[in-house]
Amino acid sequence: MARPITAAVAHDETVALRLVGEHIPEDSSVVLTEHFESFDLNADAILRMDVDLLLVACREGSAEALRLVSLWHTVRPNTPVVVLSHGSDQEFVQEAFAAGADDFMVLHPGPYIPEQVSRDVEFTIRKAVTRTRTAADQGPDAGTLIAVLGSKGGVGKTVAATNLGAALASRGRKTVLIDLDLQFGDVALALGLRPDTTLFDLAVSGGSLDADKLEDFMLRHPSGLRVLAAPARPDQAVSVTAQMMSTIYAVLRQEFDFIVVDTPPAFTAEVIATVDVADWICMVAMFDALSLKNTRLGLDTLELMGHPSERVRVVLNRAGTNVGISDAEAVEILGRTPDVLVPSDREIPVSINDGVPIALSGSRSHAAGAIRSLAEMFLSDLKAEPAEPKPSVPRSRASGRRPFRRKASVKTAPELARGR
Ligand SMILES: Nc1ncnc2c1ncn2[C@@H]1O[C@H](COP(=O)(O)OP(=O)(O)OP(=O)(O)O)[C@@H](O)[C@H]1O
Ligand SMILES: [Mg+2]
Repeated sequence: MARPITAAVAHDETVALRLVGEHIPEDSSVVLTEHFESFDLNADAILRMDVDLLLVACREGSAEALRLVSLWHTVRPNTPVVVLSHGSDQEFVQEAFAAGADDFMVLHPGPYIPEQVSRDVEFTIRKAVTRTRTAADQGPDAGTLIAVLGSKGGVGKTVAATNLGAALASRGRKTVLIDLDLQFGDVALALGLRPDTTLFDLAVSGGSLDADKLEDFMLRHPSGLRVLAAPARPDQAVSVTAQMMSTIYAVLRQEFDFIVVDTPPAFTAEVIATVDVADWICMVAMFDALSLKNTRLGLDTLELMGHPSERVRVVLNRAGTNVGISDAEAVEILGRTPDVLVPSDREIPVSINDGVPIALSGSRSHAAGAIRSLAEMFLSDLKAEPAEPKPSVPRSRASGRRPFRRKASVKTAPELARGR
């Protein structure tokens, strides 16, 4: 049974307390313990409340509600606040997050609240509280979660995720790669691994999700990388839920230095739950106007979700391809300079076919160097050196050579901005 969550509700005259109560499933362990019919609370009253969370239920655009959210966030930064409102006006949503709201949900008008709506509200509450508790419970040694996102299919997310995971593992960091492209994931294939066990098998296995159990369902790559593979068939995807993934991440953070997550080209519930707890986002864009524009939208959405922009690394894939836009124009559409530029290179599809990540293949190409430099960026964020001996690195099936370790020269972001 999940640990109970106690919540206080503050609401205005447009929202009946009963309506808020009806948004919480009857069998839920979320308990509404205090309620206030105004937003006029002072810091002292806020500090005295013995609750896990505040729900602010208000009319759309309520300045009083935003003031309360802001005060709550200042006085109790480690106790989440979720806004429930009648509508999701873009500006109000943005203001609520800017004031410090942890999440925002639209109230159902009633009288009958569909079960899916109340389950979503419960999940949002649980997620907000778990995120805060997990952050508080996480020691300085907790693993770093990197979500690899991209605004559309085929931009190179899987290439980036598999290479990043393998490169981190080959540098002695305990790393697990999760394939969250639940319907069409191909991480195992790209790494030359047979997906004997998948996330679906884990989901239907029953029992609690502890570290030993997760280990049993992981595939092992010669670089030392562990892999939780996507289900074998698209219809099995529904068994893997956002809740399950949140639990998996909490367990893996205690065991691994890095958790890298490959994603499908959409903000699915599982992807949103991942972004919510991610330390870093690795956003992959392709060098064409549509992908760049969509990437910018994706970056704006991340900011709206409260993910800090300085915790996003942008990989511009197929950089320098002649598609009628200059490098400087690409930066302008994107709204920021990319952190890593990966050129188009035949070596990449060949490495996927061989099942040997280009980062480990020993190649001296710019593409391989760029991909290795991405891993270096994440490694440089970790202060401590690896405690374990480095695992052996496989020889490339294509070349048979040992991996090349010198940093290849890569066009820098300022050079790109100058269009060189
Ligand atoms: N820089 C590159 N040069 C040449 N080919 C590339 C490059 N990057 C990716 N590719 C190729 O493009 C294809 C798509 O890459 P990948 O599977 O990584 O994209 P994706 O974003 O994961 O796609 P999906 O959304 O369908 O999962 C692959 O065949 C890959 O080999
Ligand atoms: Mg993919």
